[in-house]
Amino acid sequence: MLDSHCHLNDDGLFDKRAEHIKNAKEAGVSLMVCIGWDLESSKKAIQIAHEFDGVYAAVGFHPENLEGINDEALEEIKELAKDEKVVAIGEIGLDYHWFKEQKDHDNQKVWFIKQIELANELNLPLSIHARDASEDTYTILKEHPAKAGCVLHCYSGSTEMLERFAKLGCYFGFDGPITYKNAVEPKENVKKCPIDRILTETDAPYLSPVPYRGKQNEPSHIKEILQTMADLRGISEKEMEIAVENNFKALFHVK
Ligand code: NI
Repeated sequence: MLDSHCHLNDDGLFDKRAEHIKNAKEAGVSLMVCIGWDLESSKKAIQIAHEFDGVYAAVGFHPENLEGINDEALEEIKELAKDEKVVAIGEIGLDYHWFKEQKDHDNQKVWFIKQIELANELNLPLSIHARDASEDTYTILKEHPAKAGCVLHCYSGSTEMLERFAKLGCYFGFDGPITYKNAVEPKENVKKCPIDRILTETDAPYLSPVPYRGKQNEPSHIKEILQTMADLRGISEKEMEIAVENNFKALFHVK
């Protein structure tokens, strides 16, 4: 199994990362992508990727963490991205849930596009955070295609938008919320997602799946996500696991 999006570099997980990674491997999770959200967290992601087999890194500036960004910082991200264990630029994107003002949206768009261009220059895929911003994310990806592909992590848009993003070739990451009873649309999205575009992720330490809801999340909880996905789609867990693994390898070029 695999976790295409987790934050072992987060303060909640970092100190006990060896233990969390051991738990994950014992649970059958052999591949993890540790995702950065600014310069420091991106460096930590690379550090962890070098400490442990099966762990890879993504580097970039999250739309909620743009205080420290400028062209120099982006140049540093570019240098970090050349590391052999970096498999994506991320997480990058748009967040209109926590940011309501137009000037913030405009600023987020500028840096989202610059980071897409950076990924294209390095031939790396993108890990995208898009919250309450489907339409603008779609427009940007249409005008600035991710040449090496992209995943909409923790996909929380509508099913209609999912179909439009799928036509652009996007992958979709699903996590804890698909296991929540009242999560009607996330469940529908898992059913409608093309089988060759679906990915499992935890977004640990956030978004714990049932039965760990409310507790700290970690990559070993992928099993619950995979099981729920297989149930929703009416296929076996093994079939689901193979599909997700093929998608992961196709997007991140990891063997
Ligand atoms: Ni995340």
